[in-house]
Amino acid sequence: MPPRVVLVGPPGSGKSTAARLVAERLDLVARDTDDDISERAGTSISDIFVEQGEETFRALERDATAAAIADHTGVLALGGGAVLDDATRERLKGHTVVFLDVGIKDAATRIGFNRDRPLLIANPRAQWIRLMEARRHLYDEVATARVDTDGKSADEVADEIATLVHS
Ligand code: S3P
Repeated sequence: MPPRVVLVGPPGSGKSTAARLVAERLDLVARDTDDDISERAGTSISDIFVEQGEETFRALERDATAAAIADHTGVLALGGGAVLDDATRERLKGHTVVFLDVGIKDAATRIGFNRDRPLLIANPRAQWIRLMEARRHLYDEVATARVDTDGKSADEVADEIATLVHS
């Protein structure tokens, strides 16, 4: 069985939290490919970026994403950059994929005080805007639905996703 729903979107769109809350609502298990990658590597995403470089990280991400799409039957949150990979976008075809859309204001609030995000270390606002401009069409390409998260609580977002999955 494929994942019931795959969540994509930029850093700060709330994918991991939404995955957990949607899984609770649907009585499923949540999985996050960033967690799979750091667990497998035995180190943090930041350390992989710094010590092995982005290219190595993207290769690990491609493998982790392929494995999760193949064997996770619950709610799956992908890393924000997973959609950059052609093979990953191809793999997502035919799946229920929700794009969690967010503007810089809400993303900045969410990113501000959690986790390490190596791509956003220097000038995070400008970096985020650049990254979103470069990727929006890829999120749109893979998504079967889009949820605008701006101004919404995590519970409201999770309710919307759960409704989409049920319908
Ligand atoms: C990245 C997003 C991160 C993580 C890595 C790269 C990106 O995941 O995979 O730092 O390229 O946007 P989140 O989207 O969960 O922050």
